[in-house]
Amino acid sequence: MKVKSGASIERFSTPQELFHAAAEEVIRVANQSVSERGRFTIALSGGSTPRNLYNLIAANASTSLPWSKIFFFWGDERHVPPTDAESNYRMAKETILSKVPVPQANIFPIPAEDADASSAAKSYEQTLQKFFAVERGKFPSFDLILLGMGPDGHTASLFPETPALKEKSHLVVANWVEKLHASRITLTLPVLNAARELVFLVSGADKAAVLHEVLEGNAPPEKYPSKLVLPNHGKLIWLIDRAAASELSESA
Ligand code: 6PG
Repeated sequence: MKVKSGASIERFSTPQELFHAAAEEVIRVANQSVSERGRFTIALSGGSTPRNLYNLIAANASTSLPWSKIFFFWGDERHVPPTDAESNYRMAKETILSKVPVPQANIFPIPAEDADASSAAKSYEQTLQKFFAVERGKFPSFDLILLGMGPDGHTASLFPETPALKEKSHLVVANWVEKLHASRITLTLPVLNAARELVFLVSGADKAAVLHEVLEGNAPPEKYPSKLVLPNHGKLIWLIDRAAASELSESA
């Protein structure tokens, strides 16, 4: 179904169906990107929802994808070392990166072990500028950015009414999140919106109220940052399960 932002919404009866569909889309985009441009660049989302997706890709595509041409980045990271239980890198390593033959040189973690979150953000920004060969003031176009959505409508580490929402020139910033009493490191909206394709993966009843707000409500987008993900030229796909969709109008 199309919604006002031009995004497409695909509903699935169960989380399992959702994750299978998401895995198929990642594999489809990976093969298309390699065929068209010789490589596939993906920014992973963190949190708990994508765990099943990453496990599924590792189980189903470990021999069929051109792993030497796939390059892994992150949409955001907690300000913790890569060994920390909260680390998005650690979660991805456990669920997919340790199970597929992707060269270590193709994996670009956010250096969140740096005690200074701003320094980590600056370093990652330089990594992206070098890898994508983008000039200052320009933004890289990832082939695919995976996104989750928190119960407060945040995505990546773009939390409601936080400074990062206003960033228009940097690619990566450190973002202080008062309610977490912690810093996060996150791609900025200009980078998200420059992607060729963005896929939101939303599962569970705890997301239903906020998904209605994001997709159908009229609240200011600063209160629900997922509303600010509006790709300039790319595709925006919402993959949601029945529980998460339970407060959407039938038409959505
Ligand atoms: C993070 C994520 C974040 C996540 C949402 C949803 O670092 O936590 O990148 O944006 O996608 O918080 O998290 P769950 O999937 O755990 O609900």
